[in-house]
Amino acid sequence: MRRRVVLLGAPGAGKGTQAQRLAESERLLHLSTGDLLRAAVKAGTDLGKQARAHMEAGQLVPDDLVFQVLFERLRAGADAFLLDGFPRNRAQAEELDRRLAAAGTPLDLVLDIEVPDARLVGRLTGRRTCKGCGRNYHVEFLPPRRSGSCDACGGELHQRADDSPHVVAERLSVYHELTEPLKAYYRDAGLLLTIDGDRPVAEVGRALLDGLKQDGRVQPARRG
Ligand code: AP5
Repeated sequence: MRRRVVLLGAPGAGKGTQAQRLAESERLLHLSTGDLLRAAVKAGTDLGKQARAHMEAGQLVPDDLVFQVLFERLRAGADAFLLDGFPRNRAQAEELDRRLAAAGTPLDLVLDIEVPDARLVGRLTGRRTCKGCGRNYHVEFLPPRRSGSCDACGGELHQRADDSPHVVAERLSVYHELTEPLKAYYRDAGLLLTIDGDRPVAEVGRALLDGLKQDGRVQPARRG
């Protein structure tokens, strides 16, 4: 079983939804840089204050701030983790590789959830998130059992500030410019496994779990 894993995908591809489930069932440490940054904003820390405007505009938060929130939790030598929303650009991918190599625990797998852009907007604008535990729902595709309240903890569901249509458009554009090129980076490293994310949540989850259980290199590195 592959246990040091990155989940790659556009905003709304389903990274958070799937990561929560996989981390619970496979006992992996789930680290979402988006969740960590939102927690810092909510707590009003200096880092949160610096990150806030970038997040509200749909831009990436500067790398040094993201490294602070991530690497204080992803300890050297951690052997079972699922990174959700990190890395998001080449510099972040290289920093992750450097730190993991130094600890002797390189990445095992990058699971790339692919969904056409046209689907992503509806997913994001219909998303509802639990204020208590952070679990994600969708008003149409993944509704809670009781409207407005979380199945897992009973917390209140709300809409994220950056899920408004114009911020969603900016997030998608940032994804295509800065994050999508990481597919080639990880394909060349023989780590990339692309999963069709445009199907029901449970089916995507099964495909991701199959990917975790695969042996050997997932795709050959490109030559030349
Ligand atoms: P972050 O929180 O990471 O947002 P994101 O990457 O834009 O991803 P989302 O959380 O929006 O989508 P998701 O793929 O998790 O989809 P979800 O499962 O919720 O980052 C927010 C901000 O923080 C960034 O914009 C940036 O400013 C900053 N940031 C974070 N990390 C950073 C980094 N490394 N560097 C710099 N800045 C960083 O699903 C979406 C909806 O679809 C839900 O309603 C869900 O129920 C529904 N859904 C899921 N799967 C399916 C399915 N198969 N079918 C139908 N509906 C589905």
